[in-house]
Amino acid sequence: MTDTSVDPPRTPRRSSAGAAEAPRPAARRGHRPGTTRPDDGNATAATRPAGTRPATARPAEGAAHSAPSAPSAPSATEHSAAGAAGPAGADLHLDLPATGSRRSALMDALREAIRSGRLAPGTRLPPYRALAADLGIARNTAADAYAELVAEGWLTARQGSGTTVAERAEPVPPTRARRSSRPPRPAHDLRQGQPDAAAFPRTAWLAAGRRALTAAPNEAFGPGDPQGRRELREVLADYLARARGVRTDPDRIVVCSGFAHALRLLFDGPRAVLPARTAGPLAVEGYGLAFHRGLLAAAGATTRPLPLDEHGARVGGLAEDPEIRTALLTPAHQFPTGGPLHPGRRAAVVDWARGRGGLVLEDDYDGEFRYDRQPVGALQGLDPERVVYLGTASKSLSPALRLGWMVLPDHLVDRVLAAKGEREAWASALDQLTLAEFIGSGGYDRHVRRMRRRYRDRRDRLVGALAEHAPHIEVTGIAAGLHAVLRLAPGTERSVLKAAAYRGLVLDGLADYRHPLLAAEAMPATDGLVVGYATPPDHAYPAALEALCAILPPPL
Ligand SMILES: Cc1ncc(COP(=O)(O)O)c(C=O)c1O
Repeated sequence: MTDTSVDPPRTPRRSSAGAAEAPRPAARRGHRPGTTRPDDGNATAATRPAGTRPATARPAEGAAHSAPSAPSAPSATEHSAAGAAGPAGADLHLDLPATGSRRSALMDALREAIRSGRLAPGTRLPPYRALAADLGIARNTAADAYAELVAEGWLTARQGSGTTVAERAEPVPPTRARRSSRPPRPAHDLRQGQPDAAAFPRTAWLAAGRRALTAAPNEAFGPGDPQGRRELREVLADYLARARGVRTDPDRIVVCSGFAHALRLLFDGPRAVLPARTAGPLAVEGYGLAFHRGLLAAAGATTRPLPLDEHGARVGGLAEDPEIRTALLTPAHQFPTGGPLHPGRRAAVVDWARGRGGLVLEDDYDGEFRYDRQPVGALQGLDPERVVYLGTASKSLSPALRLGWMVLPDHLVDRVLAAKGEREAWASALDQLTLAEFIGSGGYDRHVRRMRRRYRDRRDRLVGALAEHAPHIEVTGIAAGLHAVLRLAPGTERSVLKAAAYRGLVLDGLADYRHPLLAAEAMPATDGLVVGYATPPDHAYPAALEALCAILPPPL
């Protein structure tokens, strides 16, 4: 019996066999003469890959894949959970050519998958019946291919554990080690930018996810709405009004994958809302995140820095530059120097936007974390038609979530949606539903309150340690956020950073944040350290503080 007579040539088929099957009858048919029987243990050294053990049994005809008395075939997932030698009946992707012997084609495909390492030693193959059904070939053909590969030593078949990839001596050549772009983990990490990763509310988040998935309509598992899940936009509208003073309704909110994504939607690409060539230069704060400046530069946008003083950005300068129609600010907590934008300047910048027909982009990255008094409300509340409010879960929960939200003036909603495209391609609808449930059930508020207490305590310990060990060092920007700025004597920042690196302490200097076009006459450079006191886990914080105090220069 030839394979082709059993299986006429077909178009290439892919297998993702995962279903179980009943055990094959004991008497097997279709063995080619001259083929070593898989169950006689006589595979010769010549036919076996070097160093392999002889096959000990014929392909286990479903013996391990499903018990003979199994009432019905378990699902692929049920299979995946079983078996010590790897997932039983795991999905197996094989491409067979359209023509030629089916058995040879299947054997070649399996050999290739094993040789390349795609099928690792110990991996359990799907039952031959499931594989045959998936590939559209005869069961005998699949059984024979397994048997022959057992005989050759590529596969092992044992009663009770199915057919698995043999342990082979011939190792798969290792992939060339790629150099990681991430530097090794430092001994002490006080870089700003992330909340305490150890404090992510795993249990509450999981519970919210379970509730959200249970309640989700089937439609939630289809392609997503680029505006974001309505459930999330509704709770966000309430939450932002209550906690941040934002004036909105769910229809003005567009969910995105964080602040950086919002910037891209606004400035980057052919459908950008504020394309560089028409929107003119963008005013930004003289100190800010270089990553965001780089993102804007890559989008072709030019930025002009506004000097800062103790009242925040000097927005009065906007009126003097007729080209500027958009300003990007961090009004609640200037990043990174700290401090809210003065109330007079808040009103002035909104007036400027009205008069200019321009826009203020409000980056409210950590507005929830204010310690000693009421949070500073969102600027957006002053004029929702002139301010684009940009929020994120990156500081309140985790940057790993990649969830953020834009609260837009009415006239921009459709343009932002056009920039996003027809389908949601960034923010997972399931994560959105989980966040909606987390906020709606009060979990988000509880988490923020808990973290506020924890970060305030961290901040107090930082201030206390400095008062004790380096009282000459001024610490600023401590009323809010997850970082503080330590002022250093002029000209000392670089050497202090070097001393820090020597001790395995990583943190940033203020110079990293300064806009390259900010003129010294407009705002002299100040030396300083940006200390992210939220970053280390609790247990590592005291040592990080000790390392910090040890590298601070003595009084002049
Ligand atoms: C100033 C500033 N804005 C916004 C963000 C949030 O960015 P994203 O939402 O893209 O994580 C960060 C970093 O967390 C930040 O430092």
